[in-house]
Amino acid sequence: MKEYNIAVIAGDGIGTEVTAEGIKVLKIIEELDKDIQFSFTYFPWGCEYYKKTGKIMDDDGLEKLRNYDAVYLGAVGAPEVPDYISLRDLLIKIRQGFDQYVNLRPVKLLRGAPCPLIGKSQADIDMIVVRENSEGEYAGAGDWLYKDKPEEVVLQTSVFSRKGTERIIRYAYELARREHKSITSVSKGNALNYSMVFWDKIFAEVGKEYTDVKQYSYLVDAAAMFFVKDPARFEVVVTSNLFGDILTDLGAAIAGGMGLAAGANINPEKEYPSMFEPIHGSAPDIAGKSIANPMAAIWSAAQMMEFFGEKKWSNKMIMAIEKVLTDKKVLSIDFAGTATTKEVGEEIGKQLRKIYTI
Ligand code: NAI
Ligand code: MG
Repeated sequence: MKEYNIAVIAGDGIGTEVTAEGIKVLKIIEELDKDIQFSFTYFPWGCEYYKKTGKIMDDDGLEKLRNYDAVYLGAVGAPEVPDYISLRDLLIKIRQGFDQYVNLRPVKLLRGAPCPLIGKSQADIDMIVVRENSEGEYAGAGDWLYKDKPEEVVLQTSVFSRKGTERIIRYAYELARREHKSITSVSKGNALNYSMVFWDKIFAEVGKEYTDVKQYSYLVDAAAMFFVKDPARFEVVVTSNLFGDILTDLGAAIAGGMGLAAGANINPEKEYPSMFEPIHGSAPDIAGKSIANPMAAIWSAAQMMEFFGEKKWSNKMIMAIEKVLTDKKVLSIDFAGTATTKEVGEEIGKQLRKIYTI
């Protein structure tokens, strides 16, 4: 019997609505697979908690989460609370505190998912973006000099350490080798004459150990253009924190939208728990209406299963999402349907049961 202990931070807005569906799907797996058991522990952190306690997460939050196998997160953010508080004191605190230095975002067009690119199909959009998640442009280093004076100056310093750059690039090479795919590094060495020249150097250096892997290197602006014009050229993409953030939103747009975009924050050494979350936010504009698409949250639960070594279940979960997309009977409003969050979640569960018995 394998027991997976999961800490749930459902968070704010649609975060609570979509994680509830992800958990329901996991409970179906528990029921079908006698070798798997989950325990879910809920942490009430987020903006509501902040409004009550003045804290977005407890001071000893990381210690409380430390011994779980994974964190399953919805989204945090509310209009009344500045975003840098929810981002810095919860999300980034967990990502950095647990050294989740790999951010994995699949950009894969599922069958039946809407694609805004004319003439593109599943064969063209199937990549995984490996985003550096611990330093780079989001290291939080800098200064604000002469604040509010006419001569004020701000410095936002990117931090690219050899350790940090090498480990993310190596992770991506390993992934490309394992999956027999090409690797593409995305950087900007022509303009960022320290950080990105360094990045390119490390990419080439580590690449010497992976001569079996086809290697490409793109400038980020060109990569953005090719994500739209010719996404088929990308398989495994490795890039910095900021570039990865931006490119994966573009990736989400070409692969069905925010309702389908999943992400994992991984500590590969398993020294700390990894965290799985849809990449969308709390969507205050639709929160509380039960119309959010839970597919991204369910897909990130599938990423969690893959991380646990349950690839078989992860694949089945994605197949179930695909079946619901191709059937087109139970779709949420972002896919021009009328189904509620719960109805979509339940339909995915129903399809998962069918796939299991085939
Ligand atoms: P958002 O992702 O919450 O929403 C952007 C647009 O996409 C909205 O129109 C929303 O209705 C739609 N949308 C998002 N997810 C959807 C889903 N599952 N189904 C259907 N429609 C969906 O981004 P926004 O509006 O920029 O941010 C709202 C709040 O969320 C902010 O406070 C922000 O800081 C926070 N946020 C939190 C994140 C996290 O916790 N990881 C990530 C991104 C934003
Ligand atoms: Mg983002």
